[in-house]
Amino acid sequence: MNSRKIASLSLVVIILATMLAACSSAGTAAPTAAPETRPFVIASDASFPPMEYVDESKAIVGFDVDMMNAIAAAMGFKVEYKNTAWDGIFAGLEGAAYDAILSAVTITDERKEKYDFSDPYVNAGQIVVVRAEETAITGDKSLSGKVVGAQIGTTGAFAVQKIAGATLKEYDSIDLALLDLLNKNVDAVVVDTPVAANYVLASENFKGKLKTVGASFTEEYYGVVARKGDPTGFLPKFNEGLKKIKADGTYDKIYAKWIGASPAK
Ligand code: ARG
Repeated sequence: MNSRKIASLSLVVIILATMLAACSSAGTAAPTAAPETRPFVIASDASFPPMEYVDESKAIVGFDVDMMNAIAAAMGFKVEYKNTAWDGIFAGLEGAAYDAILSAVTITDERKEKYDFSDPYVNAGQIVVVRAEETAITGDKSLSGKVVGAQIGTTGAFAVQKIAGATLKEYDSIDLALLDLLNKNVDAVVVDTPVAANYVLASENFKGKLKTVGASFTEEYYGVVARKGDPTGFLPKFNEGLKKIKADGTYDKIYAKWIGASPAK
């Protein structure tokens, strides 16, 4: 082989390698194209009914999804959902694996230091769930000396940490916590009110076996989360769309469908 052939061969190798590298990163890398030319990529931990979960046909459904789809339609943008485990969902946002998180995320001061939030879209405080036959635990005030389950890194877990004498047991998803409650490995579970109301009182697995006690004992609002500075410009579009679907009655319909009654005004 002469040196010219070697040179052109190595050129081909370099081009192929570059093409390969470009291909492999396209699947995993951050959505870099301008948001106007692609769907907004939205991460959601779809294990939190009725807010977001995977139905029998493997589709991601729930209040959040209906609300987001209605907003996207009203505003004329496209969205694509990425089912993402809760533990790591904020890290993925920081790594720009998606534009925003839509996952019944409570707006908290600590999170606001690191991320930007949309306008609040649902009022949802924490509530205590116990086994149906439980009589000693009547709400958050009777959890001292008890073992209490919650989803890891959620405001439910933070609330349990603040209860003197309560021992927190964390789970990757809320259904695992509720199953452990049924199996008597924890005395109670603390979770967002809409999830308690839906999952505990209505689901096949838990209906009649679990109940909520006491009133919701924290003041919380859900918001959509973006990186600091919202570099892909999602939040203003979301906020404007939220106003539209509230004004035309769509929001109330979606609320009634998934959460019940009418939203606390
Ligand atoms: N609202 C709670 C929080 O922000 C729980 C959210 C959990 N969401 C989920 N899709 N698993 O901490």
